[in-house]
Order: sequence, then C-alpha cells, then structure tokens
Amino acid sequence: MEKTKKIIVQTIEDFVKERLKQEGSGHDWWHIDRVRKNALLIGKHEEEVNMFIVETAALLHDLIDDKLSNEIKLEVTDVKKLLIELEVDNNEMDEILFIIENISFRKHISAGQLSLEGKIVQDADRLDAIGAIGIARTFAFAGSRGNVIYDPEGLDLSNAIQHFYDKLLKLKELMNTKTGKLLAEERHQYLEGFLEQFLTEWNGLEKI
Ligand code: ADP
Ligand code: NI
Repeated sequence: MEKTKKIIVQTIEDFVKERLKQEGSGHDWWHIDRVRKNALLIGKHEEEVNMFIVETAALLHDLIDDKLSNEIKLEVTDVKKLLIELEVDNNEMDEILFIIENISFRKHISAGQLSLEGKIVQDADRLDAIGAIGIARTFAFAGSRGNVIYDPEGLDLSNAIQHFYDKLLKLKELMNTKTGKLLAEERHQYLEGFLEQFLTEWNGLEKI
C-alpha cells in the first residue's frame, strides 16, 4: 500500500478508536480490530482484492449501526465528510460507503450485490460472531440487555442460547468467500461442541 494510503488508514483507525472508546455492547474497538484482521487475512487469500477498501470498510463498518448510542453513531454523510477530508478517491469512497451501509445481517442484502471487498468484510464480521469470540460476545450482549442465559421451557426467546439457533448456527452457510468458509468451519464446530456441553451440564447428564 502506498504511503498516503497508509496514513489515511492510520487516521481512520485513530478516529474509530477514539469514537468507540465508550462503547460497551459488543461493538467496541477490539471487535473492529478483529474484523479488520480477519478481513485482511481473507483478502490475502483471494485474488484481485483492493486491500485499502477492505481495511477502511472494516474499520468503519459498525459506525453507522443503529445499535450504537446517539453520541457514538455517525450518519453516512459524516463518514463521507471524513473520507473527503482525507482525499480518498471518489470511486473508492463510494465503494467503502456502499459496503458499510449494506453489510449488516439485518439488511439481508443478497451477496451478489456486494463487491468482493464487501463480501470479505461481511465474512470477517460474521466470523467474529461465531467461535469462541462469538460465544463470548453473545453472552456479553445478553447480559447488557438483562437477558437470561437460557430458558429450557422456551418461553423467553430473548435468552442467549436461543441466539445460537436464531443466528449463529446459520452463519457458516452464509459465508461468501472460500477462505471465509474455511475459517467458519472450525468456529462453527466449536459452537456445536459448546452447545452440546452446555446442554449436557444443564441437564445433569455428565458421564462419570
Ligand atoms: P455485528 O457487529 O456483527 O453488527 P450485531 O450488532 O448484530 O453484530 O451484534 C453484536 C454481537 O451481539 C454479535 O456477536 C451478535 O451475535 C450478538 N447478538 C446480537 N443479538 C443478540 C441477541 N439477541 N442475544 C445475544 N447476542 C446477540
Ligand atoms: Ni461488526
């Protein structure tokens, strides 16, 4: 990556870090940093990837999310302003903005509508929702909402274990890239193993 792009990435990194300092619901800086790392890892194994777009979109991907508090959340126009200030190329800016507006799970955009870079960032974000990290985030999220860890009678569907069935176990099949799929495989198995052990312990079925 050329020197000016390195400076742009560093400036965006500092900006995002500062902004998310106060965030406590699972969209903290370290989530962003992991998504960036996963995205760069996937990008390295795919062909003809614009790694600048991958990295900046990964860094910015959660800043316009409705789940953020009002002081932290940005509008698309605020992110655009930042990118213009940093003199990011117009086409690249449009691509970055399109990605961050469209990768959330709730948007249900079809993968075909995303650029390769968008698919990579979406995969990286999904990877952070599964595996050991995904489990930790799920219980942290449930705790932050005052939700219980499990309801065996299935009356309270906001319980954390329910989220595995609603979302987490489906993510492996939704991965876009071959590298993303590969990485999701092990993390998915980890989720299944966790659920099995959790239910064994819950039901007092351990073998002695
Ligand atoms: P993302 O960073 O991928 O946009 P979300 O905003 O959807 O993630 O959620 C943040 C984290 O909280 C993720 O790990 C997600 O799986 C988890 N999460 C979202 N909704 C729930 C829920 N109802 N119960 C437990 N965990 C949840
Ligand atoms: Ni995210």
